[in-house]
Amino acid sequence: MRLIIQKNYEFMSAWTARYIADAIQKHQQHSDRPFVLGLPTGSSPVGTYRELIRLHTQEGLSFRNVITFNMDEYIGLKEDHPQSYHYFMQEHLFSHIDIRKENVHLPDGNAGDIPAMCAAYEEAIADAGGIDLFLGGVGVDGHIAFNEPFSSLESVTRVKTLTQDTKIANSRFFDGDTSLVPSHAVTVGVKTIRDAAEVLILINGYNKARALHAAVEGPVTHANTCSVLQLHPKAVIVCDEEATVELKVGTYRYFKDIERNEILS
Ligand code: GLP
Repeated sequence: MRLIIQKNYEFMSAWTARYIADAIQKHQQHSDRPFVLGLPTGSSPVGTYRELIRLHTQEGLSFRNVITFNMDEYIGLKEDHPQSYHYFMQEHLFSHIDIRKENVHLPDGNAGDIPAMCAAYEEAIADAGGIDLFLGGVGVDGHIAFNEPFSSLESVTRVKTLTQDTKIANSRFFDGDTSLVPSHAVTVGVKTIRDAAEVLILINGYNKARALHAAVEGPVTHANTCSVLQLHPKAVIVCDEEATVELKVGTYRYFKDIERNEILS
């Protein structure tokens, strides 16, 4: 695992956007197959999306040959509901870049047959050739996508019941009213994320410090689904200084040191 420690949210976002842009451009140099990008919602990726939009408008980064799959969607919110993840993605990324509409995929939280939709979602990922890079955020309890604590580490796309913790955290987008937060969501599974060729998780802010500690220094456990990154051959966590406060000094210094050498070599 790589742990990239940036001094603040802006630097974390800029580093991540540049990394994604480089991955897309490198891929396009040696393959006609579209680059397949997994995407999250939430506040963590907003700065990265802003920077990707800047790279598109000012530096010619193109998404014409990119296919996206989002991680999750609430069940029962209309696509045009301001808190739906469909709406979020249009607002924060898709309406500002040159991605083809047919290349954008999000789970349908209003499907008549949700299990069939989940199976079709996994098939669509496989048909696209698998995910090249899965970008994600993390909940304060270490969940990735909506894979709440004690989700199976072998899980694939399915319905999850949201914990009260997550409903409280996400109520900030619903006028602080937990009763307005949907109780269920469709989410890709831990295995869906693990199966990506590369996984990049954003962890920022003091409130995510325990999640970062558990992901990097804790055991691999279904109690903290982000910890599964320790088993991934190409996992990158990008964090800010604030999120590192629960790490051991030795761990912090190790990653600072190794990444400094990475840049020099
Ligand atoms: C939700 C989403 C996750 C996201 C998490 C953290 O639970 N399903 O994908 O990582 O919130 O969100 P934020 O980045 O706003 O802290």
